[in-house]
Amino acid sequence: MQASEAEKPRIVILISGTGSNMVAIADAVKAEEIDAEIVGVISNRPTAEGLNKAQAMDLHTDLIDHTLYASRDEFDHALIRMIEDLKPDLVVLAGFMRILTADFTRYYEGRLLNIHPSLLPKYQGLNTHQRALDAGDDIHGVTVHFVTEELDGGPNAIQAIVPILDIDNAPQLQQRVHTQEHVIYPIAVKWFCEGRLTMKGSEALLDGKSLPTSGVQLDSRD
Ligand code: GRF
Repeated sequence: MQASEAEKPRIVILISGTGSNMVAIADAVKAEEIDAEIVGVISNRPTAEGLNKAQAMDLHTDLIDHTLYASRDEFDHALIRMIEDLKPDLVVLAGFMRILTADFTRYYEGRLLNIHPSLLPKYQGLNTHQRALDAGDDIHGVTVHFVTEELDGGPNAIQAIVPILDIDNAPQLQQRVHTQEHVIYPIAVKWFCEGRLTMKGSEALLDGKSLPTSGVQLDSRD
């Protein structure tokens, strides 16, 4: 039997840009692959394309412009208040381009997910595709992880491995990674909403069992 609307896990998604991961998750909810409710999509940028996409999908949207706040602390506290109004069970960072304070990450510890375009712990930070190419790596990829105080450092839930081809440049590689993002983020959100994916200390657990450092690995070469 399906949970009633009132009992469904409540998801808030934070975006700054295109919002294609937000759409992938919203599509999975709409298709009832994820039994949850997206109660809000929040952007820190007024021009984020994802805001229009969320509205077109009849999702509630909010805007909180970080440039109007004097400090990172003030912004994060206002953001927490905005999120709390939506009473979420899970907060999903989907291309949210703000570094969050420890107050924020501690507040949502264990119920805050992020997607990062590399095989974490490799290539934390920016320009991951170019860095993987410059290093001469054979493989690259993307990771969904729980967020902790350490930037791109919380326990991994799931990764998709993407091969690096001889002819690749950064935009081509980025595009293939992006396709895999849309596969693994809905999976991680589904697991969380089913109570299967949890965080305990510095580990991510699936069905109560510790995951390896990589998280579950999908290999797009298979
Ligand atoms: C993705 O590449 C994701 O890995 C990174 O930000 C980008 C967001 O893309 N964290 P989109 O806005 O979901 O299209």
